[in-house]
Amino acid sequence: MKKRTGNELRDLFLEYFSNMDHMVEPSAPLVPIDDDSLLWINSGVATLKKYFDGRVTPENPKIVNAQKAIRTNDIENVGFTARHHTFFEMLGNFSIGDYFKKEAVEYAWDFLTNKDYIGFDPDLLYVTIHPEDEDAFKIWNETIGLSPERIIRIEGNFWDIGEGPCGPNSEIFYDRGPSYELDSPAEELYPGGENERYLEIWNLVFSEFNHNKDGSYTPLPKKNIDTGMGLERLASVIQDAPTNFDTDLFTPILASLEKISGKKYGEDDQVDTAFKVISDHIRTVSFAVADGALPSNEGRGYVLRRLIRRAVRFSKDLNIKRAFMYELVDTVAHVMGGFYSNVEERKDFIKEVIKKEEERFLVTLDEGIRIYEGLRDAAKKKDSVINGEDAFRLYDTYGFPYELTKEYAEIDGLEVDEEGFIREMEQQRERARSARKSGESMQVQSETLANITAPSEFTGYHTKKEEAVLSYIIKEDNALDSLSETGTVELIFDRTPFYAISGGQVADKGTIESGETKLEVTSVYKAPNGQNVHVAKLISGSISTGETYTLTVSREDRNFIIKNHTATHLLHQALKDTLGDHVNQAGSLVEKERLRFDFSHLEGLSNAELKTIEEIVNEKIYESLGVRISEMPIEDAKAKGAMALFGEKYGNIVRVVDIDEYSVELCGGIHVRNTSEIGLFKIVSESGIGAGVRRIEAVTSKFAVATYKEKEDKLVEIADTLKVKENQVTKKLNAVLEESKALKEENKSLKVSRQDENIANINELAETISGVRVISSEVSADNAKELREIMDNVKSKAQDAIIALAAVNEDKVSLVVTVPKELTDKVKAGEIMKGMAGAVDGKGGGRPDMAQGGGTNPANLTIALQFVKSHVKSSL
Ligand code: ALA
Repeated sequence: MKKRTGNELRDLFLEYFSNMDHMVEPSAPLVPIDDDSLLWINSGVATLKKYFDGRVTPENPKIVNAQKAIRTNDIENVGFTARHHTFFEMLGNFSIGDYFKKEAVEYAWDFLTNKDYIGFDPDLLYVTIHPEDEDAFKIWNETIGLSPERIIRIEGNFWDIGEGPCGPNSEIFYDRGPSYELDSPAEELYPGGENERYLEIWNLVFSEFNHNKDGSYTPLPKKNIDTGMGLERLASVIQDAPTNFDTDLFTPILASLEKISGKKYGEDDQVDTAFKVISDHIRTVSFAVADGALPSNEGRGYVLRRLIRRAVRFSKDLNIKRAFMYELVDTVAHVMGGFYSNVEERKDFIKEVIKKEEERFLVTLDEGIRIYEGLRDAAKKKDSVINGEDAFRLYDTYGFPYELTKEYAEIDGLEVDEEGFIREMEQQRERARSARKSGESMQVQSETLANITAPSEFTGYHTKKEEAVLSYIIKEDNALDSLSETGTVELIFDRTPFYAISGGQVADKGTIESGETKLEVTSVYKAPNGQNVHVAKLISGSISTGETYTLTVSREDRNFIIKNHTATHLLHQALKDTLGDHVNQAGSLVEKERLRFDFSHLEGLSNAELKTIEEIVNEKIYESLGVRISEMPIEDAKAKGAMALFGEKYGNIVRVVDIDEYSVELCGGIHVRNTSEIGLFKIVSESGIGAGVRRIEAVTSKFAVATYKEKEDKLVEIADTLKVKENQVTKKLNAVLEESKALKEENKSLKVSRQDENIANINELAETISGVRVISSEVSADNAKELREIMDNVKSKAQDAIIALAAVNEDKVSLVVTVPKELTDKVKAGEIMKGMAGAVDGKGGGRPDMAQGGGTNPANLTIALQFVKSHVKSSL
């Protein structure tokens, strides 16, 4: 057996199966496309579901891939074992209805034992099978020649992960020898048991069933093969490395971490755990961010947040006190760069994301410790237990890792109610599960459609009208020869100008006609073998296969759809020009009335950025750039710098849409011939639709004009209201604002002069009663506040006087009374007020030197004012 690097093993596997006529499927992004049942791509087969369930027929039924995958069900174990990972690579070969058990076993055996490939000693290999899988037994025993004692029957050998393809499986084990028995208990020492000696390296799944969403199992349209071999494990066996972390896939990352931390890997268990945790998590996070995920509080983003936090928490064991993880991205990119280029390409963006998240968490950590201390003090006073809910809240709301709570509690001599914590956690998981969108991920598709192989030519790039022969009529999954009953039906023709929904562009609408017969096309989609299926309503007449019909695409719809499609390409490039190369398409919808474009970007766009983007796109429209469409080998397209979409599967020959070299994209959609046809481009909204994903909606052509028209109408309405011409609106509005400002000023000064007048007269009104000056008068004030202001003024001029002031506004009377402090033992403001307010049917009260009140009967105001004098007279 030759020692090989991880990268060499990956290449070797792909090479072996391509030599065996398998098609190499590229490693798909970790974020599933069009699959709500999975949070992450978690195996090689996860990206191939469309082939397994028959939605799409692959060009070649034999497929091989090296697929990056994330599994997070065992996060807690990562770091404490030799092989748990959150990110790993799976090497797999697949057959879609082509070869089955025998060939799958033969290929696997050959790859592992052939000296030109892995070259394992056959005597060191063992296999497990499902107890009832006699076929598998026979193949291993008779075809391969394994003795029965090396074929172990294990009940659990049925590969099933919930929804998706499943079936009995057979696993291949490698015996690493007695030195790897370590301290495994004797009863676990067999292939399939919990031990490090017999290591599972390859899983062959004989995929025969689909596990449906409702829990039922249905036979798949065809019997398939799904295999998976963990690259990290294979590397550890071949490199005779004690753990996956000791393989060359990890050692460069560990070395970088040694530099950062100044600690050595391999000398201390606690330190080693931290090294393992961090080196695993940095791979996961780097790849996930490269593939479009970002840390957030939910779903995928939450997983990333948790991983970064967990790594930061373990970095405390290495005495690292700053953001550091992001510095490891370079090494990850370097180790994996040969096969996966996108970490390298997006390195700067990935680092920025990780660094920000780390820094945020470092602050959180401090806050968490403070909150923990509160809980600690409370627990010490009670039963010395931190309850589960609090621990969970600390973890969930403040992002404070549970392990930390436990660790701190231990030091403080406290316990944590772990059961309660787990209960809360379970409830949270349940909430997350039910929040995940439902949707059949592996619906078994129409067999009728899957069996149709006759091609249907799409002629719609150049025409909107076509004479075509009807080849299939499908109603409720049955193929018919003719149909006369009105209603919805699915049709396939030998050729069609109708575009089927794909690449964000909506399907064409239109009619199908012949003589009396008329159908309306409501949608068009692609059948598993690529034909365009027309969903149409039969309105009159009848249809028969073999007959010719006139297929007419609605001009009006199509013409506007294609303007929006080309505008979308311009927008995509303009976004990159303005915001940077990290901008990537995350979704797109091209309709008649508008376009919608989702893309990765961390912050909301400023008005200035939006303006620049709009200007760039419009410039490209005014420049009347030619749109060239050509087909070429994918390598040539890549050399031309064509933008390809994430996760989109392209054939060897691709269609390239080139807008005069400004924007070059792989695309199967329909476009205008010259950008001038778009007319005008206008962004109507920009918003965030999830962590790190922004959405722009825009309109073009007459719909853009309509948007401006709407704004113009508003302007006209404003001008009408202001009674000026449109070009005078701003001037008039400024004048109105000025006027209103002036009026306010005037009003204010009028009030001031009114007060002055009030006050000037007041001294004259004073009457001396028993040697004390008494002022009791009505004044003009708009409200109680103003009345108080007047009182302050009057008082400043007549400090020795007892003053009672009243103001009337409509039916309300406001009253205020003050009594000099030195008189309050004889005369009390509150008592004067009681009497006054009583007279005007109101209420009032206050301190001995100052009281306020009001009433509702202005007619008796004179009585009220009179009361002041008589009260003073009788009191002194
Ligand atoms: N899909 C199988 C696995 O993941 C091969 O183990």
